[in-house]
Amino acid sequence: MQLYFNPASPYVRKVRVSAHELGFSDEIDLISVSLTPVSPHEGVRSCNPVGKIPALVTDDGATFYDSPVICEYLDARAGGNRIFPAVGPARWTALRRQAIADGIMDAAVLTRYEEAVRPKEFRWQEWVDGQLLKIRTALDALEREDLEGVFDIGTISIACALGYLDLRFASEDWRKSRPRLAAWAAAIGKRPSLAATAPAAS
Ligand code: BEZ
Repeated sequence: MQLYFNPASPYVRKVRVSAHELGFSDEIDLISVSLTPVSPHEGVRSCNPVGKIPALVTDDGATFYDSPVICEYLDARAGGNRIFPAVGPARWTALRRQAIADGIMDAAVLTRYEEAVRPKEFRWQEWVDGQLLKIRTALDALEREDLEGVFDIGTISIACALGYLDLRFASEDWRKSRPRLAAWAAAIGKRPSLAATAPAAS
């Protein structure tokens, strides 16, 4: 399998953590790409019409995107019910947590683009403030969740979202008013799958 990849992308990290946990790391070749909405990548566009990473190409040429679909595909390929609970409340909780975490990633990546890609004269501070409000409100909601002892697509996604905040929004200091979430993140970050995929500053 081939995975279009960028080491900073929290969505790609979700897939890599899932692959590691499910035993597929050695079967996935990483194709490193750099892209933004204003500098798309032709290879990515050729397999994902909306031009986003992660995009996975299987050995028989099937393509999967984006991270929730790829992670569920890998889970099914590993036999199912490993990181996606099969039915009932545990499944809905995991999917809801994945949605919160992906929402944090969406707001954070859009803010990153605004600050690192958009020309200075077009930047819109109210819009950035609106994204930061989403991130902060979602983090407060996660502080109230009982994440202890749960390892599934919900908690994988949360760990990757928090890792991205550490990478690109260190000054946000999200741990300050969220001690429970901070302690949980420190513990889960020791898992080999998360330690091996931690993004480095660039
Ligand atoms: C980043 O550099 O922050 C980034 C790169 C790829 C996807 C998302 C974010």
